[in-house]
Amino acid sequence: MHVHEVIPRSEYEAAAAWLRERLPSLPRIGLVLGSGLAALAEAVEEAMVWPFAEIPGFPAATVEGHPGRVIAGRLEGHPVLVLQGRAHFYEGYSVQRITFPIRVMQLLGVRMLILTNAAGGLNPAFRPGDVMIVRDHIGLPGMAGMNPLRGPNEADWGPRFPELSRAYDPALRALAREVGEAEGLPVHEGVYVMLAGPSFETPAEVRFLRMIGADAVGMSTVPEVIVACHGGMRVLALSGISNVLNPEVFEPPTHEEVLQAGRVLAPRLLTLIRGVLRRLPHEAGSDLSKPHA
Ligand code: HPA
Repeated sequence: MHVHEVIPRSEYEAAAAWLRERLPSLPRIGLVLGSGLAALAEAVEEAMVWPFAEIPGFPAATVEGHPGRVIAGRLEGHPVLVLQGRAHFYEGYSVQRITFPIRVMQLLGVRMLILTNAAGGLNPAFRPGDVMIVRDHIGLPGMAGMNPLRGPNEADWGPRFPELSRAYDPALRALAREVGEAEGLPVHEGVYVMLAGPSFETPAEVRFLRMIGADAVGMSTVPEVIVACHGGMRVLALSGISNVLNPEVFEPPTHEEVLQAGRVLAPRLLTLIRGVLRRLPHEAGSDLSKPHA
């Protein structure tokens, strides 16, 4: 397996056609559920479920806590398409393959993407179980060349040089903050840094990540956000802080801890997501797209 591959448009179209044949209605909102957060999918009503392995081109998820299923149904009255689990770069997939489902969503007409992940807290104010609304990101693998948009650009997908200064939609972030306050949830806002993984950070790396301005660290989300923005989607990303990282009193994080924290985090993230969806316009044909050009 390679770090990069060029996936022909026909492969995305085949997956979109496969889903279109089976979907009761076309979703305009996509949802990605991260490590330990699969239980969020139980809230989806009138759910139809397909394992990634059944859908042409979808990367099979291989990590515990990531079942790897597509779920179509309704949440707060909105037709949604949910990725229950995701593929990660560290599993050996190319950056194009891990973002494959996002482009399939783009073809299906998804205009808004809500992503969740489990992350390690770098900001000393964060506690396990807190939620961080992602304000911005530092994509270390992408900065080092592992950007999913590397390679020939097809203008049908999006521009050659997409602009990411408003990647995390300010209006959606404001809605999420409003819901957090209304529900009394421990919600922060901050910068997510992506590392390729799968090894956790060393104390020196934690020090470095704090220094460059990151508040939480994880091994996903950034490639998906880049591809979603390329396709003109509005993005909201929520990090569930599963563990905290202190370079001075270093306690090694574990995958079990990440999955365990998901039990507290899943209901909190669900409350936030439900609240945001409830505040969005429901009318078919209402504009969920970016308010700015
Ligand atoms: N580091 C990297 N990724 C993570 C962590 C962490 O501490 N916790 C959850 N995902």
